[in-house]
Amino acid sequence: MELATSHLVVDFGPHRALDDVSLHFPLGSQLLLYGPSGGGKTTLLKALAGLVLPTRGQVLWNGRDRLTLSRGETRDAQAHMGMVFQTDALFDTLTVERNVALPLERKGLSAAAVEEKVANALARVGLKAAAQKRPEHLSGGMRKRAGIARALVMEPWVLFADDPLAGLDPETAAGISALLLEVSHGRTLIAAMPDPHPSLPLARTLRLTPMARDVDNRSTA
Ligand SMILES: Nc1ncnc2c1ncn2[C@@H]1O[C@H](COP(=O)(O)OP(=O)(O)OP(=O)(O)O)[C@@H](O)[C@H]1O
Ligand SMILES: [Mg+2]
Repeated sequence: MELATSHLVVDFGPHRALDDVSLHFPLGSQLLLYGPSGGGKTTLLKALAGLVLPTRGQVLWNGRDRLTLSRGETRDAQAHMGMVFQTDALFDTLTVERNVALPLERKGLSAAAVEEKVANALARVGLKAAAQKRPEHLSGGMRKRAGIARALVMEPWVLFADDPLAGLDPETAAGISALLLEVSHGRTLIAAMPDPHPSLPLARTLRLTPMARDVDNRSTA
C-alpha cells in the first residue's frame, strides 16, 4: 500500500496544525516525525490513517484521494493500517487478549481464527504470559507491547507508531524500538516522537514545528 499527502492542510478552528505537507510513502518506507509538542505529528499520522479530515489538499491511498472512496473502500484500506496510539487506548476493563482481539472481531472472523491470530500477535511482542491480565496491571513497556500487538494483529502494510517510547526507561525504550524495527520489516513504518532516538534509526526524518501564526493571522502570543 502506498500513502501520500499532497499540499495537505489541517486546521482545527482558527488553528493551523499542518501547513502544505506533501509526502510520499511507497510500501516499505520508514519515516520518523519529530519536533516539539503541538508540531502536528499526531495530526499527520491521523490524517494519513484517515482519522482526521484534510482542510485542504489530499491524503492519497494507492494514488486515490481517500475522500473519494466509498465507506466500504475506506474500511478496507484502513484494515491495512495499524496505529499504535500515543495514549495507548487500551480498554482497561478487557484483558490484553480481548483488547488485541477487538480489530479482528469487528471483521467477523471465526472464534478459532481470532484466537490463533491473537496468540501469534502476543507471542510476537513477547506478551504471551500476560494475555489474561488487564492493561492497568501491566508495566508501561508491556502496555506499549500490547498496543503494538493490537496494531499488528490485522497484519497491516502500514504501521503508525505515535510516541512509542514515551515514558519508558532507556532499556525498555531500546526493547520497544527493536521490536518496532523487527515487526516493520516489509511494511511501511511511520513513527512520531519529540526527538530522534538512537535506538530507532529510520531511513527518513521530518521535523514538524508548531505554526507560528493562526489561520486568520491574528497572533495569539
Ligand atoms: N482535535 C483537535 N482539536 C483542536 N485542536 C487540535 C486537535 N488535535 C490537535 N490540535 C492542535 O493541533 C496542533 C498539533 O497537535 P498534534 O497533537 O498533532 O501535535 P503533536 O506534534 O502530536 O504534539 P505532541 O508531541 O504533544 O504529541 C496543536 O496545537 C493541537 O492543540
Ligand atoms: Mg502527538
